[in-house]
Amino acid sequence: MSEAAVITRPVNGSPASSVGWVLIVDDEAEIRESLQTLLELEGYAVESAASGEEGLTHIGERTFDLVLLDLALPDRNGMDLLAEIHAQDPQLSIIMITAYGTVENAVKAMQVGAANFIQKPWDNEKLLADVRAAVARRRAEEENIQLKRALKQRYNFENIVGKSEPMLKIFDLVAQVAPSRSTVLLQGESGTGKELIAKAIHLNSPRRDQPFVPVNTGSMPPDLLESTLFGHVKGAFTSAVASKKGLFEIADRGTLFLDEIGNMSLDTQSKILRVLQDRKFMHLGGVHEIQVDVRIIAATNVDLKQQVRDGKFRDDLFYRLNVITIDLPPLRQRKEDIPMLAAFFLDKYSKENDRVAQRILPEALRPLVSYSWPGNVRELENVVERAVVLSTEAAIGPDLLPDEIAGRSAAFSLLEHRADASLFDIMEDCERSIILDMLEKCNWSQTDAAERFHVPLSTLNQKIKRLNIEIKKKGRE
Ligand SMILES: Nc1ncnc2c1ncn2[C@@H]1O[C@H](COP(=O)(O)OP(=O)(O)OP(=O)(O)O)[C@@H](O)[C@H]1O
Ligand SMILES: [Mg+2]
Repeated sequence: MSEAAVITRPVNGSPASSVGWVLIVDDEAEIRESLQTLLELEGYAVESAASGEEGLTHIGERTFDLVLLDLALPDRNGMDLLAEIHAQDPQLSIIMITAYGTVENAVKAMQVGAANFIQKPWDNEKLLADVRAAVARRRAEEENIQLKRALKQRYNFENIVGKSEPMLKIFDLVAQVAPSRSTVLLQGESGTGKELIAKAIHLNSPRRDQPFVPVNTGSMPPDLLESTLFGHVKGAFTSAVASKKGLFEIADRGTLFLDEIGNMSLDTQSKILRVLQDRKFMHLGGVHEIQVDVRIIAATNVDLKQQVRDGKFRDDLFYRLNVITIDLPPLRQRKEDIPMLAAFFLDKYSKENDRVAQRILPEALRPLVSYSWPGNVRELENVVERAVVLSTEAAIGPDLLPDEIAGRSAAFSLLEHRADASLFDIMEDCERSIILDMLEKCNWSQTDAAERFHVPLSTLNQKIKRLNIEIKKKGRE
């Protein structure tokens, strides 16, 4: 070990917060030394062992982030050792070192849990990149576990994942507002977790044993919405053959979650305002006032302030709802949450589907992190679920991600499906699918499509004919 690279050991037990700890297990002294020097120069703390037995002793003594493990050790079979190491520390990343010609075994090792393998003689840059990725993953998992533990102790948030600054603030805010009866307004794009947070507020409030009643106020016609919320007496309207309780009553002593509040009619808004003001209301067609004790949580994915300015939302209702506002940032603004969320959904759907998928390879994680996620966490959840369901191996690679996320061009995926295709076939296929997409978007109006493509209608029609595109539905031509 070179003098300059000596690094003070952190206290035994947990990985150091800044340096990554790497253990090298290889019987060849030359290999151990060159790897150690390479890694130490990169700032890693390195220990090395010449045998499997020695390696296990090291692992028993301190926590490592990563083990570089020779597949062919004299005293132990590399596979057995891998299993033993994982028995001691299931989260520990292991990269197998393998000689030329034994790649098959390394692949087997990956199937039983090794993170990756490197082949001798290795390329330093590639090796360092693999080490960095493995250490980063270990750290993310470690953080995930610790954070979950901490949150579980503080609040009942096990199913909400996030470590980004805005999410941690939201956790604090939720914990702060949960115990009161204050009205909470949740704002955020679709799929950012508004309903999840609403439930968390309810579950961490003294009302947790009473009902949490969600109602999608945006999707119902006003009359139906009002009879759903306030209930009605028998005969209040033609189809009211019996009296019916409203959700305000059903949610009594619990929480009513008014979802998509931005689309409510002004008339319904004023009725809701009245309930918010004095917690009293009447059944449709009724004469008695009913008093309820309901906590209101509202959610919207539109900018309510703008709606107020446009005269579409009552300002007095807005102020009533806006007592405490929680803004859920879109996923693209908190990318550091993506690896944790992906790991969380991987675990959830592997269990649900009885799948072996346990890890997401760095090549797959990279595009997941860089994608812009217009559908936010819900979209990420769906993508991970799909990958898990399609997976046949322990690790999820980029091939299991949708093309637009993995960054494969349409041409590339066509080529994958049609190995015999020439460049001209591929270009035709691409042209066909682009034209089809546009026609679909333009409701099959060839005129609109030609306009959007900036070509004369006759040119588009020639292409449609040449490419044998079938016009499925006649549009507004
Ligand atoms: N931080 C998170 N941790 C774990 N799961 C999350 C998180 N945020 C969202 N989800 C999951 O993503 C999905 C969408 O969340 P949710 O339904 O709460 O979003 P929303 O904001 O109400 O969306 P919409 O506006 O479309 O109704 C749910 O399955 C939810 O469990
Ligand atoms: Mg929702």
